[in-house]
Amino acid sequence: MSFFTMEQHFDRYTEEDRWVWNTLFTRQLENLQDKACSEYLSCLKAMEPVLHPHDLPNLKVLNAFLAMRTGWQIEIVPGLIPVEKFFALLSQRKFCSSTWVRSRQQLDYLEEPDMFHDIFGHIPLLLNEDYRRFMEWFGVLGCAATTSERVIALQRLYWFTIEFGVMQEEGERKVYGAGLCSSFKEASRALQPEIPVVAYDRESVMQRPFRNDVVQETYVEIRSFRQMFESVEKILVKAV
Ligand SMILES: [Fe+2]
Repeated sequence: MSFFTMEQHFDRYTEEDRWVWNTLFTRQLENLQDKACSEYLSCLKAMEPVLHPHDLPNLKVLNAFLAMRTGWQIEIVPGLIPVEKFFALLSQRKFCSSTWVRSRQQLDYLEEPDMFHDIFGHIPLLLNEDYRRFMEWFGVLGCAATTSERVIALQRLYWFTIEFGVMQEEGERKVYGAGLCSSFKEASRALQPEIPVVAYDRESVMQRPFRNDVVQETYVEIRSFRQMFESVEKILVKAV
């Protein structure tokens, strides 16, 4: 079931949009080489035929690629959507994306996610099986949530992993969260040794409040996407 019937109007993008996309992509690709986890970088590389700096991504083409490789699809949405719809879409293996691109003046600051954040930040790791299983099971858990406390707990889990998660990789801290992978400045900040990091524990992450109007004070570090997936799989196994 689809909630939205929006389309990407590829012919309406301007040269300015293409310049912004190219600038963001080129700059961040270089920036992430020593900052992003190796899985993110190799997934991004694998998507190069359909996701690159030379033109804006055509979401129909991207969807054909994703259907073949992952079974996931991108659902075009009008910006932020109600959380219950977001959960439902994830449970159906659909990830939400906007189609607008920030302006030249907004290269480093956004109040709402644009297509660079949604696509460059979120989509590459869907090629990783554990990551996408986490996303789907997270959506299922969201659909099963019956209290607002439970919804808030799940939003915290998403925030500290999918949006702003870091990973321990061969003794080094690396970024994988979309909010970090798509941000020139915060990708660097999250790796500064003086910035506090706590080890991932599902229950304590679900009790950890966050603010979305400031840079993060603390990051949560996973060991692997398998660890993350298994931690939500346990909730579902308990529930049946
Ligand atoms: Fe995001």
